[in-house]
Amino acid sequence: MIVITAPEQMHEWLHSYRGGKSIGFVPTMGALHAGHEVLLQQAQQENDITVLSIFVNPTQFNVQSDFEAYPRTTERDLRIAEHHGVDVVYMPETDRMYPEGWRIFIEPGTAADPLEGLGRPGHFRGVATIVTKLFNTVQPTHAYFGKKDYQQLAVIRQMVSELNFDISVIGVETVRHDDGLAMSSRNVRLSDVQRSTAPVVYQALVSAKNLVDAGETSPDVVINTMTSRLAAADGCRIEYIEIVRQTDLQMISAINCPSVICIAVWFDEVRLIDNIEIQPPQR
Ligand code: PAJ
Repeated sequence: MIVITAPEQMHEWLHSYRGGKSIGFVPTMGALHAGHEVLLQQAQQENDITVLSIFVNPTQFNVQSDFEAYPRTTERDLRIAEHHGVDVVYMPETDRMYPEGWRIFIEPGTAADPLEGLGRPGHFRGVATIVTKLFNTVQPTHAYFGKKDYQQLAVIRQMVSELNFDISVIGVETVRHDDGLAMSSRNVRLSDVQRSTAPVVYQALVSAKNLVDAGETSPDVVINTMTSRLAAADGCRIEYIEIVRQTDLQMISAINCPSVICIAVWFDEVRLIDNIEIQPPQR
């Protein structure tokens, strides 16, 4: 008989008992683009089996019309999945995920509070709930999330750690267009003029990182520099620019630990988010 007293030990024992294959899991809402494809490639390279889920999750949308308008391109998505050697595509029906009378939600941790959490109440509750349901069904050993949605990744990491999921969460670098704009299913909603202005968001992030690399440690100075740059860009309205700790996304008064600059802007009705990781300046 074995006596186990720590969750990690229990997980380790289960792994060796099952002698199991690794299962790499990429949860998505479909409308796949090059950003998703990089997650699939990495999952495919690092695991025996790759599972992709496609599920447009109603509980994470703040506005019902956004849920309804979300692009659904299943045929194309399946071709992309096949091309990347995906073994299983999991596409549950909405009423199987949320049947009449369902009532349990996962309350996300503190990483869900700032940034997106302020402007999109309930969003991460919906994300944490669906990702838990997907994890329980797919039972992956490894799960891949993009750093494009930096806060989502942090919320999932916190949840996996605090709820003792036996899953390694892997953060994958943001995939960008040649001009720097982060790939997103929302980009197609930008007008031609907006699309040509939008790379300014990443340019401002890179300049801010350069400022920090050159020795700036004041979040206010960095944020103000970005604000002036973006204020000069036609049609770009800033929702927030924040500098937070990488680990738990809490605000910092000086850049003295690994941090991340997060930004949300609007071009008319189109909301874009992006971020860049920064390290404290070398002394
Ligand atoms: P979705 O927006 O479809 O994104 C699926 C995954 O792709 C996320 O981990 C996201 O961060 C990643 N991704 C999107 N654009 C990317 C880019 N340009 N570079 C790298 N990765 C990128 O995020 C969701 O779906 C949902 O919230 C979900 C986790 C599936 C829960 O419903």
